[in-house]
Amino acid sequence: MEQTKYTRIQSDLSSVQLNQVITAAQILCAGGTVAFPTETVYGLGADVTNPAAVDKIYKIKQRPADHPLIVHIGNISHMHYWAQAIPESAWKLANHFWPGPLTLILPRNHRIPDNVTGGQATVGLRFPAHPVASALLSALGPEKALAAPSANRFGRISPTSAAHVYQELGNTIDMILDGGACEVGLESTIVSFHDKTPQILRPGSITLSAIEAVLNNPVILAHNINQSIRTSGSLPAHYAPTTPLRLYSNIQIWPHALALAKENLRVLVITWSNTHKPKFSDQFIEQFSMPADPVAYGKQLYAKLRQFDQAEFDYMLIESPPDHPNWLAIADRLQRASYHSPNNN
Ligand code: TXA
Ligand code: MG
Repeated sequence: MEQTKYTRIQSDLSSVQLNQVITAAQILCAGGTVAFPTETVYGLGADVTNPAAVDKIYKIKQRPADHPLIVHIGNISHMHYWAQAIPESAWKLANHFWPGPLTLILPRNHRIPDNVTGGQATVGLRFPAHPVASALLSALGPEKALAAPSANRFGRISPTSAAHVYQELGNTIDMILDGGACEVGLESTIVSFHDKTPQILRPGSITLSAIEAVLNNPVILAHNINQSIRTSGSLPAHYAPTTPLRLYSNIQIWPHALALAKENLRVLVITWSNTHKPKFSDQFIEQFSMPADPVAYGKQLYAKLRQFDQAEFDYMLIESPPDHPNWLAIADRLQRASYHSPNNN
């Protein structure tokens, strides 16, 4: 049955794309690095079974060696091949949400080299839904998988298009597979089975309530992640643009914008509600309205932050997202982007 699925996925690609996928698989088998599209963000992939190739990823991203990489697989049944002691609840989530934007943290087995997991006893597995990623994993075969973090330099905004990957990593990688703009736009939801009760280590488009509904059991949202588990996305400062970024409620945002504009600073105010720039407002203030729907907002967020970061504003002021579970992943990324933002005090 799974085989039929692959055949269908592959035939969705043009012959040009299929040729590119085959070239990419050859580069990966020879120990090279390839950026590829997923439905969340673009990943920077290397053959998980080749420690020297995996080391290249850390070097290219300038990522500390103790921050583990997610391993991308092309079939649910491959979970067995890389992980062990897989709890029933993990199978349930995999069966329900894969292929899709969900990463499962499971006990790893001997096939995963140490440098993939930063020496930890667990491995993050994900079966991505993008047809190009599926075709690439299929071309690599069942005994290989792709160790792949997001294809950006450490601490920066994740790329959601092939052009973003090029901006981030340029010619430091061997190939970029172009699969268009990413459908989801935010990194996958990460669920850890390290402890008895499953924990969400990173919120994403698959929400806590959707996971609880499938498991029919409560799931913990990890606010204070155990420091011994080094989830780089769990560092307070992450996903950051270089323009200083602040979060304010729709009541506070305009007074702050006006105060900055008085000092001749160029301010971009990014809103989602129907709040409007005050009439007496200043030429130094511009407004951009994001969608009021979290799915549409999440899809655009990184591309917009990247675009505005290049527009030479002195400040980006962002309207705080609604305090609603469906906005959790967006609130999480915005908080991290504003945390150590330049001039934040
Ligand atoms: O949507 C995604 O997950 C994208 C696409 C490319 O699949 N990947 C991604 O990878 O966001 P990365 O490396 O940028 O973020 C993965 C996060 C990191 O914060 C990493 O520390 C954490 O997952 N992680 C990976 N393995 C882990 C493990 N064994 N235990 C705890 N955290 C882990
Ligand atoms: Mg990342």
